[in-house]
Amino acid sequence: MIVKIENAVKNFGEVNVLDDITLEIKEGDKIAMLGPNGAGKTTLIRAILGYYRLNSGKIEVDGMNPVMHRTQILKKISFIPQLPPPIKISLNDLINYICTTTGVQKESIIREAEDMELDVGKNINKPFFKLSGGMKQKFLIAIALARKSELYIFDEPTANLDPKGRENFYHLLKNLDERSSVIYVTHRLEDLKGLTNRLVYLDIGKITEDKKIEE
Ligand SMILES: Nc1ncnc2c1ncn2[C@@H]1O[C@H](COP(=O)(O)OP(=O)(O)OP(=O)(O)O)[C@@H](O)[C@H]1O
Ligand SMILES: [Mg+2]
Repeated sequence: MIVKIENAVKNFGEVNVLDDITLEIKEGDKIAMLGPNGAGKTTLIRAILGYYRLNSGKIEVDGMNPVMHRTQILKKISFIPQLPPPIKISLNDLINYICTTTGVQKESIIREAEDMELDVGKNINKPFFKLSGGMKQKFLIAIALARKSELYIFDEPTANLDPKGRENFYHLLKNLDERSSVIYVTHRLEDLKGLTNRLVYLDIGKITEDKKIEE
């Protein structure tokens, strides 16, 4: 079991955003996570990553509490956030930083970026935040896919991509190790055809549907 969530409750002030969520993610689960805006998808993901402390219930990633063992669990997870962070350093510095901290090879990042049709060379000295929205997304995808992880979490990473960019990304996802687990937040289930084997639907902080998807 890579992720085990038991009766997770998260409130922001008076507002209950995660309402008694129970979910287990096994090795090889490729989950499409759907639900309306404000349902709590990003909050649930941030709780799995250890950014939020729950009000009650528990989350374990590989048996560890993600809040207490943030550094260890983040080593196992490749994550693409819904909104790119405002990183001020250049692509070159960012690549070097990631290679040093995660052990990923520079060439792997460049190769994934090329597959996403992002010209890293041309932008290598540009600060990350000065890339276009789609280019940022492509770069974050390249980094996430270059890292071989037990769990991949993609929070609507294709929202800013042009159709070709989306197609390239879905194509690359086919190469993920079948033992790795994926949580893929999307509003476009049809795009994930053949890439997911489970559907989890979240609505107002509750899981209202959790079912297998047949190929
Ligand atoms: N840090 C925060 N502080 C206060 N409220 C928050 C915070 N983060 C999220 N919320 C609230 O929690 C609710 C769920 O937000 P969340 O971002 O998890 O939704 P989502 O399902 O990811 O939606 P979307 O499809 O729009 O991305 C919203 O009402 C939001 O305003
Ligand atoms: Mg969200």
